[in-house]
Formats: sequence, structure tokens, C-alpha cells
Amino acid sequence: MSRDVLLKILDLARWAPSGDNTQPWRFEIVSDNHIAIHGHDTRDGVIYDFDGYASQMAHGALLETLRLAASRFGMSAEWAIRTGQPDNAPIYDITLRSSGTGEDVLVQFIESRCVQRRPMRMTPLCSEQKAALCEAVGDAYSLIFFESLKDRLGVAKLLWRNAYLRLTCPEAYEVHRHIIEWGVRFSADRIPDQAVGVDPLTAKLMRWVMQSWGRVNFFNHFLFGTIAPRIQLDFLPALACAAHVLIKPKHPLNRLEDRVTAGMAMQRLWLTASRLGLHLQPEMTPVIFRWYVQDGREISGKASINEGAMSLAERFEYLASANRQSGFSFFCRVGTSERPSARSVRKELPNLMMR
Ligand SMILES: Cc1cc2nc3c(=O)[nH]c(=O)nc-3n(C[C@H](O)[C@H](O)[C@H](O)COP(=O)(O)O)c2cc1C
Repeated sequence: MSRDVLLKILDLARWAPSGDNTQPWRFEIVSDNHIAIHGHDTRDGVIYDFDGYASQMAHGALLETLRLAASRFGMSAEWAIRTGQPDNAPIYDITLRSSGTGEDVLVQFIESRCVQRRPMRMTPLCSEQKAALCEAVGDAYSLIFFESLKDRLGVAKLLWRNAYLRLTCPEAYEVHRHIIEWGVRFSADRIPDQAVGVDPLTAKLMRWVMQSWGRVNFFNHFLFGTIAPRIQLDFLPALACAAHVLIKPKHPLNRLEDRVTAGMAMQRLWLTASRLGLHLQPEMTPVIFRWYVQDGREISGKASINEGAMSLAERFEYLASANRQSGFSFFCRVGTSERPSARSVRKELPNLMMR
């Protein structure tokens, strides 16, 4: 295979999603049929990257996207985790071979798939759409749909409480302050403020308030500062969608490989949603906070956040008819809507190549 084709495959694969658009990977072309993906994670500075799980799921999304991209050039792509690497710096070796099969139907959605954080239509999913989403994740996972108004209201209340924890947690503030790029529609390495899902006035206020934790804290305590963002970012969008979808792995996500595979299923679900004309927004904070609770770990130095997370994990389990041991890998809402006018884009390919 020519280097040119490998670069084209990587150029398409880089459109895979990652938490907060961190793109925790670098690419190396080792030979004409061997690509190495050097992964990393953000667990040291980002409370949402619990033990690197979210980054590892993004690695899975990248590997799946790369496999699909290879099909455009009549190739298969098999991956293996290189042994001897630590979990926080995994290397994935990809072998490309001629497959003789055609382009996968999902390839054309790789670049257009994106997050929709604004309210969507409430038109219910039809049985064909639900069956296609179930088929997309495969037999190792089951899907739970929260569709009725009562179910969506249950999720809306969960997200409302969850957002209070997110917005009042000093460790989360450190993350939020770095991931938003202000005053733009497109961001190559973060989330543009216009894709966050708030109106322009709230965005302006958020930008001013988020300049210091002192301002955030004051605003939250004395001026009901969490109310406007929670209504716009959590409560209303949770009602304004066709359904929330929870991916439940049938086996625990104990090993790096399990989290990577769960990320592949996430990306197939997302691309399939795009193929069905649906938009999607991940709603991962309750899942991630529950990973902390399941592991008996603290999220914050603030006791009220940790207590709140325990009670939310219980509520989530009640809504999903699950118990504390059940695995949840991905939670999102789906529905139809206009295409978002603002979105995260990606770092250019040369900036993602190993030096
Ligand atoms: C593992 C993972 C978790 C994510 N969690 C959230 C989330 O909780 N809320 C949200 O709005 N977006 C979430 N996202 C979406 C990312 O922010 C988004 O994919 C990234 O900014 C790139 O934007 P794009 O998907 O529009 O291309 C998540 C993505 C991944 C892969």
C-alpha cells in the first residue's frame, strides 16, 4: 500500500470522537501495511477521565473508524494491543490487508457525525431504527431505551441533579475552563462555545464567570448561577429528544481491551444513528461518576459531591432496573434536528503524526 493511501485512511480516521475533543492519539506509519496508534489519556488532570476509561473508549472509536476508513480502499484493518506498554500509554498495532470487499455503508458518515447538544424533536424512534441501533452494538451489549415522557422526565431529573454536582465541583471547574474555546463556531482541539448548547447571553455570562473559581462559587451560592445552564444544557435537552439510550456491556469492562471494544460499539452506534438521520449527544457524566462510586473512590475533595454521586448512582440504577454491579458503558440521547451550526473539528493530520 502506498504511504499516500495510508495517510488518506488516517485523515478520515481522525474524525473519531473523543471526550472534550482531546484526540488522545498520535499516528505512526511503520511500514506499508502497518500503522501504530500511540494512545494516551488525561486521567491526571481531568476528573471525567476516570482511570483513562473515557480516553480508552475514544481509542476504540478511533480504531473502529480506521477500520471503516480502510474499507474505502478495499482493505481490512486488524488491531492488537502491543504488550509491555502501560495502560496510560497503550500502543495499538494495526495490520492492513487487501480484503476484496467494498466500502462499508457507515464510511460516508465518519466526517458528518457530530454532537448535537441542543433540543431535538420528540418524534419517537420507530422499531426499525431501534433494531438498527441494537444491531450496531452487537451481541456483547444490550441497549436500554428511555422513551416515554415519564422515562425522559426521570432522566431529566437525574441530569439536573448530576449537573449541580458538575457545576459546583472545583475539580470539574478546572476542566471546564480549559475545554471551551470562546467566541468561535469551530474548534480544532476543544469545544467551541457555540456548540455547548446555551444561548449567546448565557454564553457571555459563563465566559465572564468562569474566569475564576471565586466568581463561580459566588454566583452559584448567591445568584442561583447553576439554574440557567442546568435548564439549557441538561433539563430541556433531556426532554427534547426521541430517547435516551444506555449501552450495557454483558461482561464487566475489566481490561483495557474491554474499554476499547466498548468504544468501538459506541462509535458504531453513533455512526448508525447518523445513517438513520438521527443526531446524538453523549451524556457521560452520570456514567463516569458512577464508575467512581462502583470503585469506592472519591470524585472531589468536597464531601457533598461524593455523597451526591452515591445517591445519583443509586437513582441511575433504579431508572435502568440495574444493580451496583451492573456495567454501564455509554449513555446518550438521540433524535432528529437541524444540523448543528457549530462543532468541534480536528487537529490537522501532520499535527497528529509522531515526530
Ligand atoms: C467517551 C466520550 C465521552 C463524551 N462525553 C460527552 C458528554 O458527556 N457530553 C457531551 O456533550 N459530549 C460528550 N462527548 C462528545 C465530545 O465532546 C465530542 O465527541 C468531541 O468534542 C468532538 O466533537 P464531535 O463529536 O462533534 O466531532 C463525549 C465523547 C466521547 C468519545
